[in-house]
Amino acid sequence: MTVAATATGPREETTGTPDLVRLTDVSIVHGRGRKAVVAVDGADLEIGRKEFVAVIGPSGCGKSTLLKAVAGLLPAGSVQGRIAVDGLDPAAARRANRFAFVFQEPVLAPWRTALQNVRLPLEVAGRDVRARAGRTPEELLELVGLQSFADKLPAELSGGMKQRVSIARALTLEPSVLLMDEPFGALDEITRDHMHSELLTIWSATGSSVVLVTHSLTEAAFVADRVVVMSPRPGRIKTVLRMPFARPRDPALKTSVEFLEAVNEIRAALEA
Ligand SMILES: Nc1ncnc2c1ncn2[C@@H]1O[C@H](COP(=O)(O)OP(=O)(O)OP(=O)(O)O)[C@@H](O)[C@H]1O
Ligand SMILES: [Mg+2]
Repeated sequence: MTVAATATGPREETTGTPDLVRLTDVSIVHGRGRKAVVAVDGADLEIGRKEFVAVIGPSGCGKSTLLKAVAGLLPAGSVQGRIAVDGLDPAAARRANRFAFVFQEPVLAPWRTALQNVRLPLEVAGRDVRARAGRTPEELLELVGLQSFADKLPAELSGGMKQRVSIARALTLEPSVLLMDEPFGALDEITRDHMHSELLTIWSATGSSVVLVTHSLTEAAFVADRVVVMSPRPGRIKTVLRMPFARPRDPALKTSVEFLEAVNEIRAALEA
């Protein structure tokens, strides 16, 4: 007896890279005609499964633009070159919930509790997606250390806690890639330091790759496997530096000579 193959959804266009984010000669232009701004010029980059990549560069060099292009959030026609996310083009990857976004300001529904905010993507997603989801919202809140704050409203949480709720929510649909745009930019330095370690703990418990945009050299060096250094507008990838530190990374690493050397190397690449 033969059983017809049961498709779980419409066939998605595959681009031949089943387990990587791959950017090939990507250029991105905002606007048209005389108002056109070349935000990113000729970017080539591959990101491995479970890899942690930080992107650093001067303000306006196209970091957010690059993340939005990967997430399929830019108008058709503004992106040239090829982007594959988990083997799919960005639009197909978005439909398949292959990535999630975390922004600088946690965008939480103020009338929903922490747990209800984490549940939101599951409520919005179709039933087949819900059936596939791995960790429950309760487990995700525990992963980010907020199990005892499940019933609190966002107004009752600190900035760092709100950002942890956003991270938990971003993980509900088990994204292949977590895209983070200056997620700790609005936090004070002590909370930020703490969040670096928290994020690494959370990341090591998931199967996601992370692309994190930051202005902080220390943050980039501490969390990332590789740091992508961009030039001023139009943004080009100047160099990609590997951070040679073993994992798990202890906060004490930040005071070591090797770490300070790595930070200086990133600084030199930015200024070159
Ligand atoms: N929607 C848009 N329309 C027109 N121009 C835009 C748009 N979004 C960004 N730009 C321009 O594209 C360039 C890159 O912007 P982008 O926001 O990607 O920079 P960035 O590296 O994220 O900067 P920052 O570090 O300040 O967040 C800038 O010159 C910006 O003015
Ligand atoms: Mg930005």
